[in-house]
Amino acid sequence: NELQRAPSQHVGPDYKTSDEKPEATVSTTIEQKNVVILPQTPQLIALLTMIRDKNTSRADFIFYSNRINRLLVEEALNHLPVHPHTITTPVGRTYAGVKFEGKICGVSIMRAGEAMEQALRECCRSVRIGKILIQRDEETSKPRLFYDKLPEDVKDRWVLLLDPMLATGGSALMAVDVLRSKGVPEERILFLNLIASPEGAANFSKKYPKLRIVTAFVDQGLDEKNYIVPGLGDFGDRFYTL
Ligand code: PRP
Ligand code: URA
Repeated sequence: NELQRAPSQHVGPDYKTSDEKPEATVSTTIEQKNVVILPQTPQLIALLTMIRDKNTSRADFIFYSNRINRLLVEEALNHLPVHPHTITTPVGRTYAGVKFEGKICGVSIMRAGEAMEQALRECCRSVRIGKILIQRDEETSKPRLFYDKLPEDVKDRWVLLLDPMLATGGSALMAVDVLRSKGVPEERILFLNLIASPEGAANFSKKYPKLRIVTAFVDQGLDEKNYIVPGLGDFGDRFYTL
């Protein structure tokens, strides 16, 4: 079965030998070069274990998914351009550093994507955030666009597009079409995502090879209802209503 083909590795701190570390399932590796997968550290695997567990309470689900969202935002910020910036320290010495260049904004795909806004705000104070309401039809899995409201100058900004689940890719692709119709170039969009399916990542990369996806984990695949497996169930329900 598919889960037996899931890659696994010994997980734990470096001072332990391999046979002292437990084996855990880690992200599938994929060939698409525009997909950045977070390092599969013991911390990330422990956080993912918490949010995947069906017995995790809603309060814990919110807390631990927020922690992963912070890791995703911090990684995504590494993909923004910087320019040289030299400063003087309080002891009178100079330090050759860098400064971010360009303006950014967040765009969340409602409802689940809104759950990632807090992590973005914690890292980028008073960041502008646009919204796109797309809902996947429960029977057909096809996305429907209901609403969008974006910063007026969105085409001049780097866009951090937020949605925790990339299943078939239909919803996120529709959101990117909206951004493109407002003039945002593909290469200035970073899609932040918690769990992706290999199918979703492949669909995305085929249509938008220059758009970067930053994800915490590529899972095994999709089930007959197009849910990600092993996945974590319905993210929006677990975060907002269960
Ligand atoms: C979920 C999820 C994605 C989409 C992924 O949203 O948050 O937006 O499904 O599936 P896809 O890649 O096959 O399009 P859903 O439409 O269930 O709405 P929600 O955010 O209100 O939970
Ligand atoms: N949306 C979710 O919330 N989870 C899935 O597995 C697929 C779509």
